[in-house]
Amino acid sequence: MNSGVDVQHLGVIRRGRAVLRDLSLRIEPGELVGLLGPSGSGKSTLMRALVGVQRVTSGSATIDGIPIGSAELRHRVGYVAQSPASYRDLTVEENVRYFAAMLGIDSSDADRVLELVDLSERRRDLVSSLSGGETNRVSLAVALLGEPQLLLLDEPTVGLDPVLREHLWGVFRQLRDRGLALVVSSHVMDEASRCDRLVLLRAGKFIFDGSPSTLLSRTGAGTYDGAFIALVKDTA
Ligand SMILES: Nc1ncnc2c1ncn2[C@@H]1O[C@H](COP(=O)(O)OP(=O)(O)OP(=O)(O)O)[C@@H](O)[C@H]1O
Ligand SMILES: [Mg+2]
Repeated sequence: MNSGVDVQHLGVIRRGRAVLRDLSLRIEPGELVGLLGPSGSGKSTLMRALVGVQRVTSGSATIDGIPIGSAELRHRVGYVAQSPASYRDLTVEENVRYFAAMLGIDSSDADRVLELVDLSERRRDLVSSLSGGETNRVSLAVALLGEPQLLLLDEPTVGLDPVLREHLWGVFRQLRDRGLALVVSSHVMDEASRCDRLVLLRAGKFIFDGSPSTLLSRTGAGTYDGAFIALVKDTA
């Protein structure tokens, strides 16, 4: 079967404006892909399209050969939105069990996902008592329910301190090593070095797809910010 993500000539128009333009992309299982681009470049729109909550105007996309938006994909794709929601007046474990029930997933899966994100010891604490990074990990735990093969994480490290960011990237690498495909978006170019592969988005178009080292060598830039600016000049 055709495993992984296959995006073909995807386009999205919002309020008469092309927000995503002719995007084609393949992502294999076990890849950790950084989706980077400035604010407004279309990262969240692309993720929403892959989850099936954003109407696509042209082109197509499949996940494991199944068209995006199909009910069959509900358990294969985990998604953490840019402003993830959890119930602050419930405990960590109650949150995860609640979402498991909503998804029709056995509540025993809560133990597994809490272990994966290293929140087992905080399971009886109210979400309102957690730090920002811990709260993010509750959403990540929810996205991991049902053992998805693809995780779409929209700016999961924004606002976190360097230690927490490092910890979270460690979790992403572990999941990658288990064979999941992960797409992690960021508008902070210095996260680039943590990815196996970078896809750079600018004004709804891909301007680069390759490894972090290729990005630096191709542009001759010393920093990822510099590389992005060089690419923008090249493609202008
Ligand atoms: N509800 C909406 N209706 C119309 N246009 C929208 C809507 N939401 C976003 N857009 C536009 O779509 C474009 C892409 O937005 P998107 O949220 O995908 O960008 P982003 O790369 O995720 O940005 P950020 O880094 O700020 O999260 C932007 O120009 C934005 O103004
Ligand atoms: Mg966004």
